[in-house]
Amino acid sequence: MACNSTTDQPQNANITSKSFGTLPSGEEVTQYIMTNNQGMEMSVITYGGIITSLTAPDKAGKYEDIVLGFDNLEGYLQDGVPYFGALIGRYGNRIAKGKFTLDSTEYELAINNIGNHLHGGLKGFDKVNWSAKEVEYADGVALELTYLSADGEEGYPGNLETKVTYQLGNDNTLLIDYMATTDKKTVVNLTQHSYFNLSAMKEDVLNHQLMVNADHFLPVDSTLIPTGELRPVEGTPFNFTEMKKVGADVNQENQQLTYGLGYDHCWVLNEGAGKMDLAAKAYEPNSGRTLEVYTSEPAIQVYTGNFLDGTLTGKGGTVYNKRTGLCLETQHFPDSPNQPEFPSTELNPGEKYESQTKFVFGIRE
Ligand code: BGC
Repeated sequence: MACNSTTDQPQNANITSKSFGTLPSGEEVTQYIMTNNQGMEMSVITYGGIITSLTAPDKAGKYEDIVLGFDNLEGYLQDGVPYFGALIGRYGNRIAKGKFTLDSTEYELAINNIGNHLHGGLKGFDKVNWSAKEVEYADGVALELTYLSADGEEGYPGNLETKVTYQLGNDNTLLIDYMATTDKKTVVNLTQHSYFNLSAMKEDVLNHQLMVNADHFLPVDSTLIPTGELRPVEGTPFNFTEMKKVGADVNQENQQLTYGLGYDHCWVLNEGAGKMDLAAKAYEPNSGRTLEVYTSEPAIQVYTGNFLDGTLTGKGGTVYNKRTGLCLETQHFPDSPNQPEFPSTELNPGEKYESQTKFVFGIRE
């Protein structure tokens, strides 16, 4: 292929790696820098499988970082970092009172969020050091992360063999492929916790427009556990069936918004589980950046960074205030192990947990 000297974009997709520091345990953390043939770049560290940076073009073709995170490992090791960019497991979102029962055995998990279990516990998949290797992908680059979660880890039953592949496509897409198997009946609900800001942190996310392909959402109690009701979004601030500013209704008088300090809820996707369907779309008018989310999961947690309070300073000295980021976490419903009417999150020996989510980055002029 002829080399175009007027562009600084790489001709070939590639992955490079370097050390990102050492954990207190002595384990080395590696950072993988994945670049597609458009020049889009995504950095991933083995610690937590965290996406530390991800660039996407604006309408002028300028690639800028659109995710929250830190410049170095120390940033991620601070207390109270709210899962920036991390892989979440074994169970994304909440399990009421940290308890569930499988085949009449009750399992007890850590209580780490207002009386409930959140995002896999005290040392969830966001805080373990994954093994990583580059794998073949013809239309871009791919990185495979694996982790064996031992039987009883964080209170969950079964040895869980987990594999997550990040596939960065030359068409500016990121496909995340999750796979897990167990040797004992267990529950699994994996997700990715990137905080997006399509303005590249120039403003908060209230001006982003959002569409969520869902006619229902899951109302929660005051501790953010679903009540079991599937409530129509129509006529409520939770109606994102048409593109609407994130900030349009977020300050309305509404008990659900009070409980979440804004949007921190699970929307029930219209297309259901199983095959890849459109879950959500976001658009930031100043940059022109768009983000579409497709998933095989039945639901998406939309979280508008309500608990960010300016105490964390991230990459390049940016202070992370309330609503600096927007999380679009594809998943099964929260608290499914205790709510039999919800789609099951159980995994049996011999079965394969499989889930896929695709983020498509684009522009609208
Ligand atoms: C939860 C929020 C939580 C955030 C960071 C989100 O997935 O829904 O309630 O504050 O993660 O921990």
